[in-house]
Amino acid sequence: MPTKAATKEAKIIAVVNNKGGVAKTTSVLNIGAGLARRGKRVLLIDADGQANLTTCFGFPKDGKKSLYEVLCETKSIKDVMIKCTNGVSLVPGAESLNTVEAQAAAANWDMREFRLKHALEEIKDQYDYIFIDCPPAMDTRVTNALAVATEVYIPVIAEPLSLQGLDSIINRIDQIISKRVNSRLRITGVIITLFKPKVAIAKDCVMYLEEKFPNVVFHTRIRDTVTLKEATASDKDIFQYAPNKQGAWDYSALVDEILKREKIENEKESTHNG
Ligand SMILES: Nc1ncnc2c1ncn2[C@@H]1O[C@H](COP(=O)(O)OP(=O)(O)O)[C@@H](O)[C@H]1O
Ligand SMILES: [Mg+2]
Repeated sequence: MPTKAATKEAKIIAVVNNKGGVAKTTSVLNIGAGLARRGKRVLLIDADGQANLTTCFGFPKDGKKSLYEVLCETKSIKDVMIKCTNGVSLVPGAESLNTVEAQAAAANWDMREFRLKHALEEIKDQYDYIFIDCPPAMDTRVTNALAVATEVYIPVIAEPLSLQGLDSIINRIDQIISKRVNSRLRITGVIITLFKPKVAIAKDCVMYLEEKFPNVVFHTRIRDTVTLKEATASDKDIFQYAPNKQGAWDYSALVDEILKREKIENEKESTHNG
């Protein structure tokens, strides 16, 4: 008989923020890598037309085997997936993703919000964690991510301007729930990124976030450090690039926190199921 762990559903986490430059891609890359190092089966999906996640792995951003072809239903997700050297699987992004909105309207796509959900049906059981790196927008690509996600993580910089966009994310998620695109969607993680511990206003912003998202803000702070910037240009994740430096420590601590939350959830579930 299969074990409970083997039949457990994949966590599908949409990483969203309409602001660019808040470390969505950096977080998807390094959380994914960290979880793979701890033996989890990880799939990363690049839904951004900038395709930064894809180029971080050293792949081009004009490939013809990307999420774009999957959303257009001209290729299956298995046809476009790549196994990366750090153990994660990647569904690449491409610049063509920027045309999805226009394509969907021109060709009057049916079930346009659910195309990623349908595509993932055949493979999602093979993964423990699936992360979707979303573009800084609230369009069809993001709706596809939110329709299939079981959870949402929001990376955010602890500075006043960065906090302003949060209500629009919350509103979007409320809409997704109320329109029954995905009624079980929840924000389960807020990641404080590019953190500067010595900046006084950062502390106030953290307090604001902890009040706005009780028990959701991760305790780990991802500090601002040049190695995370350098790693992006090296085709490596932070554990490959600089395993003994601050960036790797912070993302490693965040991965520990994610796994700790998973363990608590599993314990609650097994108590509940008797
Ligand atoms: N903790 C950090 N310290 C320093 N630079 C960072 C950190 N996190 C991300 N960066 C850099 O900030 C920029 C934006 O990050 P990125 O992950 O591309 O954001 P997004 O995907 O939200 O647009 C990139 O140049 C990245 O290398
Ligand atoms: Mg990005």
